Order: sequence, then structure tokens, then C-alpha cells
Amino acid sequence: MANRLKQFYRALTAKVDDQDLVFVKSRLNDSEISLFLQMSTIDQKHCINVAHSAEALTKVRKLDVPLLIRAALLHDCGRKNGDLGLLGKSFAVLFDKTIGYQRFIKLDAMRRSKLCSWLHQLLEVYYRHPERGAAALASIQSSEQLIIIVLSHHQPATATDCPELKLLKQADALN
Ligand SMILES: [Fe+2]
Ligand SMILES: [Fe+2]
Repeated sequence: MANRLKQFYRALTAKVDDQDLVFVKSRLNDSEISLFLQMSTIDQKHCINVAHSAEALTKVRKLDVPLLIRAALLHDCGRKNGDLGLLGKSFAVLFDKTIGYQRFIKLDAMRRSKLCSWLHQLLEVYYRHPERGAAALASIQSSEQLIIIVLSHHQPATATDCPELKLLKQADALN
């Protein structure tokens, strides 16, 4: 709970400064920068923080750091600016913690037409942003490794997870 409150406060005060942009531009190509900039300031700052946390964690592991940082900067690019908003995201987190994805799937199949479209759109973005992000990256011909990491960043761990994905999940949980 304390972590959630901290995240909410950080989101409220999120700001992407020149130093952040220099960092982003040094790690992504032009098409990827364009995807990055389509996220809200809150998500941009979150991804930058995840990238810094991930970079700090690499000091004790051997892995592909440039791939990890690109994945961290773009992992939430399936949420574009205006898709969710801070209140929408907070509501979706609350929904996830109380009602959950499995019930959303049932509602999705059984009562889709009765759900308020705002609620449906909100949860669709919240739950499906990994698929949306992977599709956006595929459309700019990003590497398969990057696409798989973004697609899988909220999936339960499996034996085939690459070390960059494992570390991204750790860094994401810290931010
Ligand atoms: Fe995410
Ligand atoms: Fe994230």
C-alpha cells in the first residue's frame, strides 16, 4: 500500500526534463523515440525510472544492457498519452487488486455490450498494453527479442524467460 501511494505521488509530480530526453535519445532509434514520446509524461517518466533501476541492477548480472534499456524505455509504449490518465490507471489498479483479470475476461465475453465503454476501454488498455506495445514495435521493425520482452513483461515467469526480461520485471516492480 505504501508503495502504491509512493507511485501515485511520483506520478502526480512526474516531469521529463532535458537530461531525461538526452538519455532516451542516446538509447533509442528515431522510430522508437517516436513511440516513446506518444506515451503520457507519467508513463515516460515511469519508463525512464525503470531503465535507471534496471541499469543499476545489471551491475551484478551479465546480460545485453542496450537491449534491456530499450525494453525498459518502451515496455509500456502500448499505453499512449490520453489512453488511461492517472485516475484511470489508479482505478484500473484497484480493479485488478479487487476484482481481477479473470473476472474481466468473463465480463468481456459475457457482458461486453452492457459495460460502460469508458470502463471497458480503460481495462482493455490496462490489461492489453503489452500486446499493443508489441504490435507498435513490430510495426517499426523492432527486434524480435525486444518485442517478446515487451509482450511478456506482465506474464508469470517461465523457464524460457531471458535474463533481460527477468530484470525488467524486477525494475518495473520497483517503480
Ligand atoms: Fe506494463
Ligand atoms: Fe511499467
